[in-house]
Amino acid sequence: MTIKPLIILPDPLLRQVSAPIERVDAELQKLADDMLETMYEAPGIGLAAIQVGVARRLLVIDVAKEGEGKRPQVFINPEIITSSDERSVYEEGCLSIPDYYAEVERPAFVTVKSLDREGKEQLTKADGLLATCLQHEIDHLNGILFIDHISRLKREMVIKKFTKAAKAKVL
Ligand code: NI
Repeated sequence: MTIKPLIILPDPLLRQVSAPIERVDAELQKLADDMLETMYEAPGIGLAAIQVGVARRLLVIDVAKEGEGKRPQVFINPEIITSSDERSVYEEGCLSIPDYYAEVERPAFVTVKSLDREGKEQLTKADGLLATCLQHEIDHLNGILFIDHISRLKREMVIKKFTKAAKAKVL
């Protein structure tokens, strides 16, 4: 397995809409495995393919608590088919926006239809952290970041900070 470099804000790739996956083959499974490895190494609890520079509708998640065993989950072409009116608030972060955290309010319960790592259809009824994580990662597939859900003032400050940092790195 390979650890892939992460795409960091303000890279325009993060705003790209990812394309549906037409075939679940060995190449795609290797990408999913590499993404899991990359996510565990970071460490993080979710990663979308676009965050390693691949604009395809694939994400990996593991919301197991510390001390529990690993519980990797792969979602291919995930689609939210129901979401609750009830909302919950979590402090979110993102491997593409390192060391920045903010509270985001989202539906508390979602049902997600997708394919698993073997290409089999799966229906996931999610609550708690998994519900939030799925919504955060599915947003990535549509070019949306969690900072799009916070106030404009805060968002602009974060983007400015990361734009400055990226420029400093180039120089
Ligand atoms: Ni993220």
